[in-house]
Amino acid sequence: MKIARMMVAKAKSIVVLTGAGISAESGIPTFRDAQTGLWAKHSPEELATSEAFERNPGLVWSWYAHRRAVVKLVQPNAGHYALVKMALNREFTLITQNVDSLHQRAGSQNVLELHGSILRAKCFTEGKIFHKWPETDKIPKCDCGAYLRPDVVWFGESLAKETLDKAFEVAQKCDLFISIGTSSLVQPAALLPLIAIKQGAQLLEINKEETSLTKYATHAVQGSSGILLPMIMGMWKYRLDVLK
Ligand code: OAD
Repeated sequence: MKIARMMVAKAKSIVVLTGAGISAESGIPTFRDAQTGLWAKHSPEELATSEAFERNPGLVWSWYAHRRAVVKLVQPNAGHYALVKMALNREFTLITQNVDSLHQRAGSQNVLELHGSILRAKCFTEGKIFHKWPETDKIPKCDCGAYLRPDVVWFGESLAKETLDKAFEVAQKCDLFISIGTSSLVQPAALLPLIAIKQGAQLLEINKEETSLTKYATHAVQGSSGILLPMIMGMWKYRLDVLK
C-alpha cells in the first residue's frame, strides 16, 4: 500500500484503465464471476452481438433494460470518487471498459468509454445516437423505422476509432499506468498497459485477484478498489465509512 501511494504521489502523468471490478462495490455484477457474473446465465453470444439482436431483439432489449434499471438505482462508490481526486493537478486520463457511466456520475471528466454506454441508444441500421433511452414497454424505434440498440460495443464489433486512438496515444505518453478491476482478458483494452510499460511507464495493478497482467506489474495490490483507492488517495473518511 505504501508503495502504491508513493507511485501515485510521484507520478506527473497518469492513465487509469478500469473494468467491471470498480463498479462491483456499487452493486453491478462483473462479467466473468462464475456465480454472479453477467455471463453466468447467458453466454455473451446470446446477448451481446448484433446477430443475437437480429435473432431475438426482445431478449437482448430486455436484458439491457434490466441493466439500465440497475445502473440507475446504484451510486458511484469510494473507488470512483478517489479517481476524481487522483485527476487533480497532473496530466490524467481515465479510460474505462464500463458502460455504466458511474465515473462521470462521480465527477470524472473526459472519460474515454472504450465500450460505449448503456445509457445511450443508437439506430441499429444508421448508427444515429440517442443520448437518452426512450423508456417504453416496446423496443423503441428510430425515425427511419429501424430498432434502437444500446450504444455499446458488441462482440465482433470495432471500438470507436477516435476513442481508441486517444487511449493508445495517452498510454504511450504516461509515466504511470494503473489497471483497476479488470481481468485484462478483452482486447484491445488489455494491450494498453503493455504499451505503456514498453514505453517506460510504471504499472500498478489493483484487483481482488491475480490476473494475466499481474506478472508485468511494477507493483500489484490485491483487494477491493473501493477500499484501496481511497487509502491510496488519503481519503480516510471513506475508509472509516467502510469500517462502520
Ligand atoms: P471481468 O468480469 O472480466 O473482470 C472483473 C475483474 O474485476 C476481475 O479481475 C475481478 O477479480 C475484479 N474485481 C471484482 N471485484 C473487485 C473489486 N471490488 N475491486 C477490485 N477488483 C475487483 O470484467 P472486465 O475486465 O471489465 O465488454 O471485462 C472486460 C470486458 O469484457 C467488458 O467491458 C465487457 C466484457 O465482455 C463488453 O461488453 C464489450
